[in-house]
Amino acid sequence: MAIRPIVTYPDPALRQRCVPIEDPTAEDARQLAQDLAETMYDAPGVGLAAPQIGVSRCIVVTDTAWREDGAERDLHVWVNPQFLWLSDETRSFEEGCLSIPETYVEVVRPVAVRLRWQDLEADWHQADYDGLMATALQHEFDHLDGKLFIDLLNPLRRRMLKRKLKKQALREAS
Ligand code: NI
Repeated sequence: MAIRPIVTYPDPALRQRCVPIEDPTAEDARQLAQDLAETMYDAPGVGLAAPQIGVSRCIVVTDTAWREDGAERDLHVWVNPQFLWLSDETRSFEEGCLSIPETYVEVVRPVAVRLRWQDLEADWHQADYDGLMATALQHEFDHLDGKLFIDLLNPLRRRMLKRKLKKQALREAS
């Protein structure tokens, strides 16, 4: 297992569309899941998608129960996930992203989701989620399509935020 460097905005790796994992039981898929989990816990964060460590493959890990004391872990691995349904009802939630450090903004998304995904045994599952898990899953699965939460803001807020992120990047480079 290894903690991998997290790719940050505006790295083009974050804009790639991921390819499905053909054999979730393969050693490289298992290794990728472990590296994602270890990197997420180290960061720390509640979710991490493969593009965030520079790998364009359809796999995400989440742990929305986890807190920094590590007392209560609830690791989920989502391979080749697809939404089957998104609720019409939406809610606004303050989101952050390990690939866009120190940026927290209110994002509006469907409040509930239904999805299917594979586990590392290649078995398919289907379930409904709401609350923080529904938000985290939408945020993470967007990464697999090369989308970022800043894309969901209205044009004015998006422009302001992009300007801020550009300044931040220049400051770090100098
Ligand atoms: Ni993110």
